[in-house]
Amino acid sequence: MEHVVKIAEILRDATHSIAFTGAGISTESNIPDFRGSQGLWKKFDPRMASRSYFEEDPKGFWSFYAMRYNSIAGAEPNDGHAALAELERRGYIDLIITQNIDTLHTKAGSKSVIELHGNIIWSRCDLCSVERRTIECIEELERSGRPPTCKSCGGLMRPSVVLFEEPVRLMEAAMDVACRSDCCLVVGSSLTVYPAALVPEVVKGQGGALVIINMDPTPLDDRADVVIRDKASVVLKKLIEALS
Ligand code: APR
Repeated sequence: MEHVVKIAEILRDATHSIAFTGAGISTESNIPDFRGSQGLWKKFDPRMASRSYFEEDPKGFWSFYAMRYNSIAGAEPNDGHAALAELERRGYIDLIITQNIDTLHTKAGSKSVIELHGNIIWSRCDLCSVERRTIECIEELERSGRPPTCKSCGGLMRPSVVLFEEPVRLMEAAMDVACRSDCCLVVGSSLTVYPAALVPEVVKGQGGALVIINMDPTPLDDRADVVIRDKASVVLKKLIEALS
């Protein structure tokens, strides 16, 4: 509990705090993470989330994303998402930068969210960028047995998420926020994927506070001011109590 009290003090002293979240905040909403004990990359090749796989086997790519969509579509925010929304409401954090594509922060009521890797609710044409709901694309895949195509130009549709081998378009905005922050609360990320993991590094590198709430060790643990190895929902609920 003393670690939680320390986080509460850090948040009170900071002027511009942000949360940086990864798949670990959504496992308690029954969405698997990638590198945790039951992670997706222990069952599937990460290449299935890459640009080259989309180009090589669009049907196999869409089958993988249909499975991911189905695990996300019915998910509800958990106490961890709710706690971060509450921290924003009370003015303790300005914004969330998330690597997650499940939209659960927004569903939980968070207003300022940067979805670094996009979100799976929408898909877009790979040629002309016209958007369609991903559920419609999956229904077309299931009906026709072929990867969904654009109604406007016939190009291949793809989920509006950042694939491996693609640029993270929102990275400039995230860096701009990180440069103006003096505290970064990392929740549920292995901090192993770049450029996203630059966000907490930049905040710490310019003298800000770094807090890591994660079940497994991360490469930034030894630079963190506080590290708590416990469930995000448990720690964040205690943090709200400590700030009340
Ligand atoms: N509470 C706290 N931590 C948790 C919980 C939980 N309930 N459940 C899992 N974790 C931790 C795991 O121990 C793991 O270290 O969350 C971390 C999740 O790490 P990853 O699975 O690597 O997820 P993430 O950091 O978001 O991955 C970054 O990699 O595959 C790409 O695009 C994908 O956005 C993703 C990126």
